[in-house]
Amino acid sequence: MSVESPRQKVPPQGDADVPARLLGWYDRNARSLPWRAPPGAAPPDPYRTWLSEIMLQQTTVPVVIPYFEQFLARWPTVEALAAADTQELMAAWAGLGYYARARRLQLCARNVCLAGGFPQTAAGLGALPGIGPYTAAAIASIAFGEVVAVVDGNVERVVARLFAVADPPPALTRQARAILQPLVPSARPGDFAQAMMDLGALVCRPRSPQCSACPLADICEARRLGIADRLPARAERPARRVAQGTAWWIEVDGRVGLERRPSRGLLGDMPGLPGTDWRQDMDFALPFPGAWKRAAEPVRHSFTHLDLKLHVAAIRLSDRPAFPRDLAWAGAGELKGLPSLYRKVATRARALLED
Ligand code: ADE
Repeated sequence: MSVESPRQKVPPQGDADVPARLLGWYDRNARSLPWRAPPGAAPPDPYRTWLSEIMLQQTTVPVVIPYFEQFLARWPTVEALAAADTQELMAAWAGLGYYARARRLQLCARNVCLAGGFPQTAAGLGALPGIGPYTAAAIASIAFGEVVAVVDGNVERVVARLFAVADPPPALTRQARAILQPLVPSARPGDFAQAMMDLGALVCRPRSPQCSACPLADICEARRLGIADRLPARAERPARRVAQGTAWWIEVDGRVGLERRPSRGLLGDMPGLPGTDWRQDMDFALPFPGAWKRAAEPVRHSFTHLDLKLHVAAIRLSDRPAFPRDLAWAGAGELKGLPSLYRKVATRARALLED
């Protein structure tokens, strides 16, 4: 691996006991989160750690907490999750985004059950569906005490500042792992990982870092250089794609026609409204003639790599229309389980038909 020697990055005060200071701070300031063991306590059930880490991929802690609690109440063990009704699981996931993750979650649970339990190392965990290098390290360290560096966005920021690493990701990620690995304390690796996460989330924040509250402020190289708020350097982002399409709200006797989205692609396998493909060269289109109403403004929705403008057309009919694909006719209760994109469309369509 072409990693700069971590030694070059250690500030002059680098012999200061970073792990002990950080753990001391964590003992006093750790966030109390439903998937966590308190500082210094025995590790949590790996199922809780795994579930929370999958939910937290690209989603924030406040958003995840209620989902985590609902999942745990409904499926208290990995065996229960493996045996869950997939559609029920997908509906429970609605709103967390990235539905492919919900599908991989269950696939992973089934693999774990077949193997008789979670692998206990980052290498073993990383071979499971939906578990990348970060998640594997997080579970191994938090649930199994493996002495491995855990580097997420928060941790990357802390390391970039503490050691004044000027490179943007992905070089920064590799360097942060190399710098942190020798600092991970063998007695409390999971607490160390979560202490770094909490320091990043609560103190070493992206904007206006709260250096006066930081246990490492006096040895922070970026602070000494007065550049803390300019680190980490940003990676150049690939241009986002844009696409358009039309969603059709077809209402008959208070029920609305739904169809399952194709397995491959965005919102794969989720229930949705019928409509056109989403493409750059797509615009407004209707499936059959009639007294359609069209929303003046499209619904805008951002996926990780795509900005979507979804036009909305709504019609109320007295008979089910001839439609080239099978539709499932859903009542108001079922519409609540739609992904957030389609819930936005539903709100827009209902308003149109009330006009
Ligand atoms: N983000 C990802 N994993 C986390 C954890 N275990 N605690 C807090 N924030 C996190």
